[in-house]
Amino acid sequence: MTRRKFVEVSMATGAAVLAGGKILGSTVRAGLALIAPGTATNSVFKIGGDLEINRLGFGAMRITGEGVWGWPPDRANALKVLKRAVELGVNLIDTADAYGPETSELLIAEALHPYPKRLVIATKGGLTRPGPGDWEPNGHPDYLKACVDKSLKRLRLERIDLYQLHRIDPKVPMEDSLGAIKEMQSAGKIRHVGLSEVTPAEIERARKVLPIVSVQNRYNVSDRKWENTLSYCEKENLGFLPWSPVGGGRGLKSGSAVDAVAKARNASVYQVALAWLLQRSPVMLPIPGTSNVQHLEDNVAAGKLKLTSEEWKSLAA
Ligand SMILES: NC(=O)c1ccc[n+]([C@@H]2O[C@H](COP(=O)([O-])OP(=O)(O)OC[C@H]3O[C@@H](n4cnc5c(N)ncnc54)[C@H](OP(=O)(O)O)[C@@H]3O)[C@@H](O)[C@H]2O)c1
Repeated sequence: MTRRKFVEVSMATGAAVLAGGKILGSTVRAGLALIAPGTATNSVFKIGGDLEINRLGFGAMRITGEGVWGWPPDRANALKVLKRAVELGVNLIDTADAYGPETSELLIAEALHPYPKRLVIATKGGLTRPGPGDWEPNGHPDYLKACVDKSLKRLRLERIDLYQLHRIDPKVPMEDSLGAIKEMQSAGKIRHVGLSEVTPAEIERARKVLPIVSVQNRYNVSDRKWENTLSYCEKENLGFLPWSPVGGGRGLKSGSAVDAVAKARNASVYQVALAWLLQRSPVMLPIPGTSNVQHLEDNVAAGKLKLTSEEWKSLAA
């Protein structure tokens, strides 16, 4: 790519840094643009090339009961959190039939249907719930097809914008599970398809069955096990939805560089963790989960926190 072309692409995405004609840091190819890690500034990303997402989304797993089971203790509060997320400009809500099970999808419809025009609800199927805190994969084709129909009904949708296979079931060939999802897509019940907890090799294998637009793997500032999958998504311009973006149940490592940056910027560690993710890559679409309106507002505000290159370096270690 010539320097002129690179600058044109950079201006179009607002997401690259040039120093004396050289790109800072190690670079990756993200769609058309060359991006240095830590320099992403795009506020939106198009999932599947057509669904424009404000990059900071919301995860609706935490609006259920204890152990992601049943109804939340304060149902009115859960509805308030969902409504506030949309008011604050969130237009990607991640859920799954397994959250509750069923209650997360039902609450989303109760709070937000009829849905605002640009709202994207991403749901999942393929994990069953034997009890509170328990999760078991089921990737049988007939089961998955029934899951899609039931999610459509609960969410009061005619088509699901993003349907994600929650887990690859080791007992079922991935091609059979995805073949069932492809059938539902061909029937007009699903717009785009995503995967969860997958390696680059698994994504490649899945893409032989049907187009994949996004991946959802655990990833945050203190847990970067899936760096290889993130790189693959950048190279192929797939959306990457990091789950546990602020540490999930485990929290973030304390006494870390994150604490120091948070203190210096008068921000919370959650806000620094989210700002780090947004800056990390232009394909990053964090979906922090909360059952608390104040926490939600704080998380959305993190979209405005820009880390300096020194802060970035201190967190990169
Ligand atoms: N694909 C998968 O296998 C998978 C697995 C797990 C989750 N997910 C998705 O990813 C989303 C996020 O994952 P997650 O909920 O495990 O992790 P997370 O978003 O990193 O963490 C959520 C936890 O952090 C707390 N929290 C969030 N923001 C806070 C703030 N500003 N201040 C203080 N505490 C805060 C929440 O408690 P409060 O409620 O008290 O705020 C909650 O306990 C889920 O909602 C779900 O949609 C996907």
